[in-house]
Amino acid sequence: MPITLAFDIYGTLLDTQGVVNVLEKMVGNEATQFAQTWRNKQLEYSFRRGLMKKYQQFSVCINDSLEYTCAFYKIPLTAEQKKILLDAYLELPPFNDVKECLKSVNSSEFKLYAFSNGSKDVIENLLGAADIQDFFIDIISVDDVKSFKPDPAVYQHFMKTSGSHGDNAWLISSNPFDVIGAISAGMRSVWIQRSKEAIYDPWGIEPTTTLSTLLDLKENILNY
Ligand code: 2OP
Repeated sequence: MPITLAFDIYGTLLDTQGVVNVLEKMVGNEATQFAQTWRNKQLEYSFRRGLMKKYQQFSVCINDSLEYTCAFYKIPLTAEQKKILLDAYLELPPFNDVKECLKSVNSSEFKLYAFSNGSKDVIENLLGAADIQDFFIDIISVDDVKSFKPDPAVYQHFMKTSGSHGDNAWLISSNPFDVIGAISAGMRSVWIQRSKEAIYDPWGIEPTTTLSTLLDLKENILNY
């Protein structure tokens, strides 16, 4: 039976810091911090919307958190600048190891899905811009269940839709909250530690495996 792989998108396959180049022209040397605050706030807004049962698509969290970030740094970007940034978020660059990893697991031993907080049309756009859309059988979005990661319902939805079960369903994610969510819902999960500084949440719920690069994914999963 093939192993089902659920690839997280933002921060795992695509680099959310990829907007820094565009930001530098607008906010100067605060660009890296600005991009990080924007990203963190997107996630906070998705968690809060999930808890409050006030679901809106992830793009709303991205828009609202951009407004917050401008206010936080006291940088009043124009409507045109915000549009440029939001457009850049629809074309985030893939990390260097992504294509080679996807090629390596593009075999009958695996079934590949994109699994994201982003809505299907947005993820389709992102995968197309990164030229990796053909590797995936389908995109499974939290939008179908109107909640966000790490609600157990979204991982159950993934397993149901992909026809996979606990031991055979692996989430691949750089986001610790996502890894913990998937393991808690009965999946296996690889934490991709995208930088040495990245900290895994000390909740006592460990990843099945931790890797610093996607290039080691195939071997590690097959040998597990
Ligand atoms: C994603 O679902 C968690 O933002 C991350 O793509």
